[in-house]
Amino acid sequence: MSTAGPHDVGVPVGPRTTLRGFRPGDLETIMEIVAEALRERYEPGLYATLSADWPDGFLVAVDDADRPIGFLLGVHQVAGEGRVLMFAVDRRARREGVGTELMRTFLDRCRARGLRRATLEVRVGNAAALRLYARFRFSVVDLLRGYYSDGENGYQMARDLN
Ligand SMILES: CC(C)(COP(=O)(O)OP(=O)(O)OC[C@H]1O[C@@H](n2cnc3c(N)ncnc32)[C@H](O)[C@@H]1OP(=O)(O)O)[C@@H](O)C(=O)NCCC(=O)NCCS
Repeated sequence: MSTAGPHDVGVPVGPRTTLRGFRPGDLETIMEIVAEALRERYEPGLYATLSADWPDGFLVAVDDADRPIGFLLGVHQVAGEGRVLMFAVDRRARREGVGTELMRTFLDRCRARGLRRATLEVRVGNAAALRLYARFRFSVVDLLRGYYSDGENGYQMARDLN
């Protein structure tokens, strides 16, 4: 499977799911996924701005009707580092490997850009995400006290890209 191609070339993930770059028409569905999965609402313009900064870092998983069922929004703000800013799969599509393919492809895109490290933040109580990140060899590098708006602590996690 090719994973380092241009952002507008879809990467097939199984029979019904494809990974492709963000398109403006995805915004409404992605904001619904964010509201449910991350319990946050970000300013709508943020998505297009970050996509323009690094199109290959914003991966959208779509179903066979081209409707988003998950996404990973990565940013490149620190030299040599890719950071997962948002990552969520629609709850109806979870546990089918979509999150794994999003993360695998994101790490490939980081390598294609010559980045040497990947980082992310996660709620200390998010067992599902922690398990996925451990499988991708992320490890905890810092405890972020009161990091989330409801006061929950976060972990900063990181891994080398080799
Ligand atoms: C985290 C998330 C993106 C994973 O997406 P997904 O498509 O369900 O992930 P996958 O199907 O690829 O699962 C990969 C592995 O992650 C772990 N995992 C995923 N969901 C899990 C769960 N509910 N409980 C325990 N482990 C889980 C497992 O190790 C799983 O592998 P397995 O199914 O072979 O055991 C998804 O659960 C989600 O959107 N959660 C809410 C938002 C969120 O927490 N985002 C991360 C913020 S840091």
